[in-house]
Amino acid sequence: MTSEWGESRMLEPLFSSGSFDNSTPIKILCPADKSITHRAVIFAALAKGVSKIGKPLLGNDCISTVECFRKLGVSIEILDNHSLVVDSPGWDAFTSPKDSLYFGNSGTTARLMLGVLSASPGLVTECYGDESLSKRPMDRVVDPLRALGANIESINHAELTLPLRVAGSHLSAQKLCYDKASAQVKSSIMLAGLNIKGETSVTLPKGSRNHTELFLEYLGAAIAVTESGDGGEVLSVSGPFRPSPFDGSVPGDPSSAAFFAVLASIAPSGPKWVIEGVLRNTTRNGFIACLKDAGVRLTLEPKNTDENSKSFEPIMDLVVEPGRKLNGFDIEGEVVANVIDEIPILGVLAAFSDKQTSHFRNLEELRVKESDRLAKTCELLELAGVKVESGADYIYITGVGDGGVRSFRFDPEGDHRLAMAAAVLASRASGTCEVLGAQCVEVSFPRFFDLLTSLG
Ligand code: S3P
Repeated sequence: MTSEWGESRMLEPLFSSGSFDNSTPIKILCPADKSITHRAVIFAALAKGVSKIGKPLLGNDCISTVECFRKLGVSIEILDNHSLVVDSPGWDAFTSPKDSLYFGNSGTTARLMLGVLSASPGLVTECYGDESLSKRPMDRVVDPLRALGANIESINHAELTLPLRVAGSHLSAQKLCYDKASAQVKSSIMLAGLNIKGETSVTLPKGSRNHTELFLEYLGAAIAVTESGDGGEVLSVSGPFRPSPFDGSVPGDPSSAAFFAVLASIAPSGPKWVIEGVLRNTTRNGFIACLKDAGVRLTLEPKNTDENSKSFEPIMDLVVEPGRKLNGFDIEGEVVANVIDEIPILGVLAAFSDKQTSHFRNLEELRVKESDRLAKTCELLELAGVKVESGADYIYITGVGDGGVRSFRFDPEGDHRLAMAAAVLASRASGTCEVLGAQCVEVSFPRFFDLLTSLG
């Protein structure tokens, strides 16, 4: 069956006896990190001159960011070795595009670009996204950006969702607060702050990924991160700041690695799995603690090679040994922001615990991701015969023990992480499973199905 997200994928169970040679480790090369690729492209575009980005993620989301800057007058070339060469006239020389900027399915492109565009005096843009992105809240960045003086208006509708018109202007420094841990919100404000005279700051709960802060430190910006009195974090940046061009490479994406780490963890037997080149960053590695809580035998092997020294952030190999009995495990509070993109695949892990119940709480943000991920994770697990209980912001999942799950036909409705979670779940199903519109994985992991089917 074909949908706007391409054809269905029919998936056979993976672990029939004797399918793997126990003596040879299974090696998976982790695709590049989506969040860091977006930021590398943005900072390279803001820097006047030529920057090089090695091993970027060329998934649809990051390409949306690339296309936006091309429309603003930045030359971005994708070389045969898949690296990017960004030749920019610099932030002050961006030109208003003739047609609209398209953010595709990418919330990160939308929220971060709104920060850049608002703080670009003289630049006028109209911005839109696909059906899913057009439903997602933009007030979380529009409100604070307006507090800095930004001119952002809805086009032809009352809601603060895409499409939006942005008339870039000179903004003024403020101290802002936000009540949820969100990397997109703090990054949007920091990016705008780079073009504001004086100190712009935002206070928010801790726990969200810190790639913008780390990148700004790497570029030499005056950025500070401190604790707020009530246990939150305060980010402040002093502008104006113009980055210089740079040359570095993108580490592997832990959120993508998580699919293969869980696949290895639910394999009933077989050799160890080595997932290579994964980002080592404590704001992204919460899923590793979840795997350990579930009883998975897993080791982290830091990389001390030249490859690591060129990387924007440190990398490691993840080694997982299959065949362990799995426990239930809990996720709640501050750790939720750390594993926000891993909840669907951690739900699949929980489905294979030894009949224990895992409790995932404080998941309200999942409702406004690429799909309502709370509802869709429950739908997927229930289709496979897993016992699930859910409410406004929680999911409790009871594992099926040694047995597999029943076969299913699942529509991820264009949500890449749901499609990949379903494919991992299908590896332990009693028969053939169908994942509809499976091409949506190209948003974050273009070679996902090639890698998966190469294992069978
Ligand atoms: C991202 C931040 C996260 C995450 C998203 C990527 C980023 O959203 O879900 O996939 O690159 O900044 P939050 O804004 O909820 O932290």
